[in-house]
Amino acid sequence: MTDAIWDALKGLAKPSLTELFDGDSQRLDKLSTRFELGEEETLGEIRFDWSKTHLDDAHIAAFEELAGAMDFAGRRAALFAGEIVNPTEGRAAEHTAQRGVGKEESVQLALDYHHKTAAIVEAILRGAMGEVKHLIHVGIGGSALGPALAVDALAEEGSLVDVHVVSNIDGVALERALRACDPQTTMLAIASKTFTTIETMTNAESVMNWFRENDVEDPYGRVVALTASPDKAVEWGVDETRILPFSESVGGRYSLWSSIGFPVAMALGWPDFAEFLAGAAAMDEHFRDTDGADNLPLRAAFADQYYTRLRGCQTRAVFAYDQRLALLPDYLQQLEMESNGKSVKADGTPVEGPTAPITWGGVGTDAQHAVFQLLHQGTNLVPVDFIACIAPGDDLAEDHHRILLSNCFAQGAALMAGKASDDAARAYPGDRPSATILLDDLTPATFGALVAFHEHRTFANAVLMGINPFDQFGVELGKAIAKQIEKGGTTFDPSTEALLQAAGIA
Ligand code: F6P
Repeated sequence: MTDAIWDALKGLAKPSLTELFDGDSQRLDKLSTRFELGEEETLGEIRFDWSKTHLDDAHIAAFEELAGAMDFAGRRAALFAGEIVNPTEGRAAEHTAQRGVGKEESVQLALDYHHKTAAIVEAILRGAMGEVKHLIHVGIGGSALGPALAVDALAEEGSLVDVHVVSNIDGVALERALRACDPQTTMLAIASKTFTTIETMTNAESVMNWFRENDVEDPYGRVVALTASPDKAVEWGVDETRILPFSESVGGRYSLWSSIGFPVAMALGWPDFAEFLAGAAAMDEHFRDTDGADNLPLRAAFADQYYTRLRGCQTRAVFAYDQRLALLPDYLQQLEMESNGKSVKADGTPVEGPTAPITWGGVGTDAQHAVFQLLHQGTNLVPVDFIACIAPGDDLAEDHHRILLSNCFAQGAALMAGKASDDAARAYPGDRPSATILLDDLTPATFGALVAFHEHRTFANAVLMGINPFDQFGVELGKAIAKQIEKGGTTFDPSTEALLQAAGIA
């Protein structure tokens, strides 16, 4: 059934972007959509412009048929109902419940957990734990990338505490953070869903040693644990009153909305964190209630599938034309590649085509002067997403923001239009796709909706390909071998043995 739909998709005419605009005067209206957050009171607006992609009516109709054949509506209903959508681990995926959208009991549980987090955040900010100027948040992967991105994006000015997110086991990362903090006014947040991850636990121990070396009176009194394994946190020594739990059904890379968002709430205050959740909830409701290509994450997934499976694109690029969103490509790399970088479908059979492209990117305009050459004239077709905000994040009198936005829009136009030249080195082929996400302002709410949009886009892609986006067994083998090396007694291949000997580890 789906083979026939893919065959039909492959057989459709593939007009150029210019031809698509020339042939359909309604194209912009159809594919550039203003999404308003909030019903009674507006929480902001985001424009999703997919008109400079190669989606046309025929492709959209065929992709809608594919979504039907893959039971997109059923899979989406199962997601929001808190059913097992991660069969290999026998789990639901309840990140939307953290935002108030999902199975009733899960929403209630998330609310209870949020109340505890809010109470602790407010108490600390009121001074109940003495003076707290710095927060060192140790975590890795999903327990670090989201908090780092959100703090960077939203706490530009007036951050209530100075947050340092430390993830790497390389001690250089922690030493840098420690140098910037005063031990007497620093708190430690240990963020780990499992509370076993070696990088996080080692970094946490080292912060405790630093407290002790600096005569901090009650080092354990400075610790907060953010985890789905509270028992392990108690065993480790964290006081139960300062363990902020979240449910096992919240995946690591989807956990920013749970207590893992603690440093964000500490930097912004709880009301802003609540607005961040509300912005995501607006996107959840849109995704849950909208059918076909009007559904923005599903429409984006149609374009993603078009480029990976019909045009052979192996990568997709994301450029944030906003310094505050510089970490967004890193965040999306984990979200998309750890979720959909799979070779088998949810039922264990091999996938029929390529799965997640490699997500990469950077910040505009820096990237223009570094990697855009390849986008305009290279032999790889790379679909690009541009993300920008209408309201500036700076207060400078000079027109930085107008120049920034002009450059962003110029790139999309140039990629599409190209430019002929008799001189081959100076010719631009054009017909290169891009999508633009334009936020009216970068607020907690619009930022929440932006991240939730990408979560749902990732899920929609997984459904169209038949894969389970919620497990990540591919990360386990390397971890197991690292443990064997630590333990000693195992012989590896000659190359690895030589490296171990050279480093004095064998
Ligand atoms: O190794 C991958 C991973 O399991 C990610 O999926 C996760 O976000 C990260 O490690 C951290 O895990 P934890 O929160 O349990 O420390």
